Amino acid sequence: STNSPSGLTGSSTAADRARALTVEAHERFKSVSEGKVADYIPALAATPGALFGVCMIGTSGATFAAGDSDYEFSIQSVSKPFVFALVCQAVGEDEAREKLGVNSTGLPFNSVIAIERTKDGTTNPMVNAGAIAAASLAPGATAEAEWRFLHEGLSRFAGRPLTLNHAVYESEAATNQRNQGAAKLLQGYDRIYFDPIQATDVYTRQCALNVTAKDLAAMAATLANGGVNPLTGERVIDAVHCQHVLAVMVTAGLYEQSGDWLYETGLPGKSGVSGGMVAVAPMKGGLGTFAPLLDDSGNSVKGRLAARFLSERLGLNLF
Ligand code: DON
Repeated sequence: STNSPSGLTGSSTAADRARALTVEAHERFKSVSEGKVADYIPALAATPGALFGVCMIGTSGATFAAGDSDYEFSIQSVSKPFVFALVCQAVGEDEAREKLGVNSTGLPFNSVIAIERTKDGTTNPMVNAGAIAAASLAPGATAEAEWRFLHEGLSRFAGRPLTLNHAVYESEAATNQRNQGAAKLLQGYDRIYFDPIQATDVYTRQCALNVTAKDLAAMAATLANGGVNPLTGERVIDAVHCQHVLAVMVTAGLYEQSGDWLYETGLPGKSGVSGGMVAVAPMKGGLGTFAPLLDDSGNSVKGRLAARFLSERLGLNLF
């Protein structure tokens, strides 16, 4: 068969190829031992470092998985683009940009200086400060109502009701003073749109939702498919918002390494400190990976290798 970009959506030979490449990506990189499990959230430190799951879901719903693709872990920062999508849907893309910013900070995900470096306190919704501000824009008069909106929306992206990882939530809630500080600083700039401590708590819950690599692939495939989840057929967001979400993922999805990632894969992507990662191939499908050993910027080492390999072999690079 050929190096067809339709491998995720097309004929059965293309599907056979996508299936074989998913298995090959897992085989090739499963023994890579570089990187470190995140430990600044105490409950994450116990994650077995050797876990590795890979899943691709096409816009047709075709699903290809290998390794630990059904293992549940907390979504962490991979939630950020999907929360931004739900917020764009709720308040409109112009207001979302105006209130959050969409430019890369070039700084680590938890940077507080990033807030000060722009004159107005905006960052972008892929870094912690902008993501807490994004969570604060969720519709609802109470933190509980905001949480319900985000929990339901994220579950629709995944195509199933996501559960909260209580151990991770409690562990992070007890140790997230830095995020609370960032949220308070945002308040000083009028760049948070709900009580800062409650908004940080909603954000902390969002990060503690359990997902699998397969869930992440379904979420990514929903963005690839114009906002309709290919597994459930449900429209989660309007098509017009996908392009805005993908734009901020390209700009800032892997923080200060977003340029390196784009150079390797040519795709919008997003990483998280528990080891999850998504990549989106518009009109074709989504990739979800889980591998908890991280590089110095908090990005999954094996996830990056698998994304690069699959993008190259399936001809997914946008450029
Ligand atoms: O706010 C935090 O630090 C975590 N809940 C999420 C950070 C994260 O996943 C960064 N990713 N690479």
